[in-house]
Amino acid sequence: MNSGELQRTIERIEREVAAAVRDLCSVDAVRGLEKSVLGKGGSLGGLIGAIRECSPEQRGPVGQAINQAKARVKELIEARLAELRTEAAEREAASAPSLDPTIPALVEPLGAVHPVTVVQWEVERIFERLGFTVEVGPEMESEYHNFEALNIPATHPARDMQDTFWLNNGRVLRTHTSPVQHRAMVKFGAPLRVIVPGRCFRYETLDASHENTFHQVEGLVIDEDISIPNLIATARLLLEEVMQREVKIRVRPGYFPFVEPGIEIDMNCQICGGARCPTCKHSGWVEILPAGMVHPNVLKAGGIDAERYTGFAFGLGLTRLAMMKFGIGDIRVLNSGDVRPIVSPRRLGGPLIGGPKSEARAASAETARTPHLASAGATPRA
Ligand code: FA5
Repeated sequence: MNSGELQRTIERIEREVAAAVRDLCSVDAVRGLEKSVLGKGGSLGGLIGAIRECSPEQRGPVGQAINQAKARVKELIEARLAELRTEAAEREAASAPSLDPTIPALVEPLGAVHPVTVVQWEVERIFERLGFTVEVGPEMESEYHNFEALNIPATHPARDMQDTFWLNNGRVLRTHTSPVQHRAMVKFGAPLRVIVPGRCFRYETLDASHENTFHQVEGLVIDEDISIPNLIATARLLLEEVMQREVKIRVRPGYFPFVEPGIEIDMNCQICGGARCPTCKHSGWVEILPAGMVHPNVLKAGGIDAERYTGFAFGLGLTRLAMMKFGIGDIRVLNSGDVRPIVSPRRLGGPLIGGPKSEARAASAETARTPHLASAGATPRA
């Protein structure tokens, strides 16, 4: 082969490679082409032997032409390989789940809102809608506010109704939220609509429904022409809104020196559905909302004109309401630091937390046989 023929052969091989490599769709196929052209005995690589057939003065330029052609073919091969790699990366990116860097990172939840707080917020929302103000008062209270301003003088036997933690400084850990009645009357005067959520303390023997530290929500309405039906309607609305269903209530007489008349509003036990269990002291009812018409002495102590104004007050057992709402059978769970009660076992269809599941079921079966038992329970202490 003379140098002219060799030159034409080189050009033809380059054209063929340029055309063929475009159609190859895999790395292996491109590598195969590379070997068949540039490899030993390949269409270009094999031309090196032909140099010998050239005259000595042509050998240099022919060798150079072959090497340049090999470099150009190598470039074509590498360019196609780079294209194939890019296409593969794009295909992989398209099939992978897309990454949205604006989505907040997943964080382990550190805790949950306490069931009593959940219900307290709900109660506050309901009353704010009704035009009530939310007030707070001190947990360490004066004897005057906790008792005397509420028509309970030192010698009154009603002081024994609330087992009190007395402090060395002569103050008390408030036994109820009622002391804030007086504080609110002095602060706002009449007319007045206020609720007071707060923690209370009593020297109690603990059981499924009694804690030494529990929450109440005091309610106080003072205006002209306020009467018991206003009180009962408010109580029903409150309980049904919190429970998100119709609830049975019963009203019976109750005694508190700071109201006259005094009543007890009970709710059918939501733990056993009225079938009687330890939470409701086997009565089917839970004392949830003692209340009454504010005693004139309390109005007067608060600087309110008792001739012109009347009012009602109640002391909602907030902790017990949370138990009813979340199906928590034992009040002691709520002060234990275990956040699981926030999840309603009833909604999950699981067992009651610390609750009297088997006893309630047994009582339920019993009541099904003797239906009158469900409404005939004796009243436990508050
Ligand atoms: C009172 O505390 C009155 N101050 C309520 C009141 C306010 C009456 C205004 C009239 C007018 P009582 O001691 O019954 O009442 O407590 C009220 C509610 O708090 C009870 O019905 C009960 O739900 C809850 N409660 C009382 N003691 C405990 C306790 N040891 N553990 C958990 N809840 C309790």
